Amino acid sequence: MRLTFIQPDGAATTLDADGGPTAMHVATRHNVPGLPAECGGQCICVTCMVDVDDAWAAKLPPPGEDEMDMLSDTLGEVPPGRRLSCQIQLAPGLDGLVLRIPGGQGPV
Ligand code: FES
Repeated sequence: MRLTFIQPDGAATTLDADGGPTAMHVATRHNVPGLPAECGGQCICVTCMVDVDDAWAAKLPPPGEDEMDMLSDTLGEVPPGRRLSCQIQLAPGLDGLVLRIPGGQGPV
């Protein structure tokens, strides 16, 4: 399956996501900028945020309580579609998933 990350400036990178297991793992394996993912997927650093468009958000399992707690503790109000990419498990039905990287969570 393939997965596309879009930088804040609009630059897009499409990657082969084979092996997942999460969107964060694919991004870090390919050195996608702007997603430092400092905790390595433990759901505690909140430096792996992505924004998911409505069409794709409907296909993802909803965020878990821990994920939402971390996002709201960090951001206050959580923008619609905001997720932690380490909590997005990749599955065949997500082929073509597009994730937008918000700025300000690490060196770009
Ligand atoms: S990698 Fe740390 S919260 Fe996702």
